[in-house]
Amino acid sequence: PAVPAGAGLSFGPIAPVDKAVDAFVVPEGFSWSPIIRWGDPLFADSPAFDIHSQTAAAQERQFGYNNDYLAIVPDASGTSGVLVCNHEYVNPNIMFPASSDPAVLEDRANLYKAAQGMTVVELTRPAVGQPWSYVQGGARNRRLTVETEFELTGRAAGSTLLKTIDDPSGRIVRGTLGNCAGGLTPWGTILSGEENFNGYFTAPTVSAERKRYGLAALTTSTTWERYDPRFNADNPGYENEPNRFGYIVEIDPQNPTAMPLKHTAMGRFKHEGANVIVGDDGKVVAYMGDDERNDYLYKFVSKHKYNPKNNPGARKQNRRLLSDGDLYVAKFTGNSAAEIDGSGRLPSDGLFDGTGEWVALTHKGESAVPGMTTEQVLVYTRLAADLAGATKMDRCEDVEPSLATGKVYIACTNNSDRGKAGKNAPADEANPRNGNRDGHVIELTEVSGQGGTRFAWNILLLCGNPATDSTTYFAGYPKEQVSPISCPDNVAFDSEGNLWISTDGAPSKIGTNDGLFKVPLEGPERGRVQQFLSVPRDAETCGPVIHDQDGLVFVAVQHPGEEGAWEAPHSLFPDYVDADGGGKFRAPRPAVVQSWRSSAL
Ligand code: FEO
Ligand code: CA
Ligand code: CA
Ligand code: CA
Repeated sequence: PAVPAGAGLSFGPIAPVDKAVDAFVVPEGFSWSPIIRWGDPLFADSPAFDIHSQTAAAQERQFGYNNDYLAIVPDASGTSGVLVCNHEYVNPNIMFPASSDPAVLEDRANLYKAAQGMTVVELTRPAVGQPWSYVQGGARNRRLTVETEFELTGRAAGSTLLKTIDDPSGRIVRGTLGNCAGGLTPWGTILSGEENFNGYFTAPTVSAERKRYGLAALTTSTTWERYDPRFNADNPGYENEPNRFGYIVEIDPQNPTAMPLKHTAMGRFKHEGANVIVGDDGKVVAYMGDDERNDYLYKFVSKHKYNPKNNPGARKQNRRLLSDGDLYVAKFTGNSAAEIDGSGRLPSDGLFDGTGEWVALTHKGESAVPGMTTEQVLVYTRLAADLAGATKMDRCEDVEPSLATGKVYIACTNNSDRGKAGKNAPADEANPRNGNRDGHVIELTEVSGQGGTRFAWNILLLCGNPATDSTTYFAGYPKEQVSPISCPDNVAFDSEGNLWISTDGAPSKIGTNDGLFKVPLEGPERGRVQQFLSVPRDAETCGPVIHDQDGLVFVAVQHPGEEGAWEAPHSLFPDYVDADGGGKFRAPRPAVVQSWRSSAL
């Protein structure tokens, strides 16, 4: 049984867990349970999950694969609510046995479309402070897939760059791809970033624009190009299909019939996610990373002001805030630049820090980049940012402002190309370690208003195992007293303003499973990294949601057992029983997990 609400989240940090261990580990005194797993039925008519007779039709009515971003949005009662999750990609090698039957392979290709996208599902619980259960057949339950229609918004909507033979309007896109991190807006909608969309297309004819987005003559792992002409960008009429992905999407989890949106005003790149804060002037500011080695950090500032009222008119106005405004890219200047040599050694002023500028890519919604039209800036944003002289970053993953302080936290996950010959990205003060193996976290402070163009910054954490890596840094906190951490990916805040960081990549870097870590940002404990949980073998920790006042921590466990095979699973998470109930074949299931204190301190 759960300890009643108010027990809070005091915990003793767990020890790091070796990468060979297939276990979900929480602190002493805590329990955990999955809320929903890949294949769980969502609707009254959904078939139960049967790993041996999966079909595209069933998957469309079930929870999708590889959950990444997660939002838990309670209703006013506190005993009902919605869970929103996205589904980034699929792992066919551990979802099914190998097959060479053409009919089976075609249905699997369709199943992959149904297993990606997003899910909205209702939650219920007996009382505040208790763990949640999902509601099969809930009125707000919804699946969005690679076939769901999205409306393009902003000034590139309707442009010739976005028209295809199926959509001569250039305004309605089927599907969303590669959804990674996201954010919950002040007006209650969900944002999600379309990240590695290029990998779903084959694009044999190369152009500068295609090349800059990693589009190439690929044989895709989903095989869609064999069955659906829009995934071969050389097919006549589909040349622009890849231009219709790589956006921030917005969905309304309270209204299952609301049209989902794709916002061109927020630019097109490998969007990790977006997180919004309302500035003093009422305009909203969204922070966004492009997760590619040596790509950039962006922000969007709305033209219109947020309407804080909770009525249908206000909600309708707020739903258009991200359709019109200006896009900026970050340029960092270090104050110890001459001392940076790629070693990660602290400069003589004791900090990796400096100032910076948000360089406008649009002004009053129109192109601010000489030689590029507004539509080109919004669709080929990476090329616009190249021309603006933006700072090449160590893969910006989640970027999130603290709603308590307005400071922005940027997870730079790692960058094997930093300082590498031929990559034209020498170490700089904001990215100070050559070959950046373990990543770092930057703290950015706006100095001319949340939507302004000047900022200050410092590095909060240089990640790694402090026992073996002298370049690690924890905001000056004693290194002997922190948990090792590698490859920061998603970030979140608790009600006290502490930062929580989930990781993706620790097994191959420091030999331990990925996890979730708490880091105080203020006072004597600033920089004290403490591990809260550890995810199973090969998994990534995603979508942390910290409801500390409710005594609950949530994570999305993505790609458990990814390095295994159908015949030789690496993980049996989360049920740890044979999916056959004693039979021959078993498989892990990506799932959303909640954790709570179950015995008193
Ligand atoms: Fe899908 Fe950048 O992580
Ligand atoms: Ca991921
Ligand atoms: Ca400095
Ligand atoms: Ca991520």
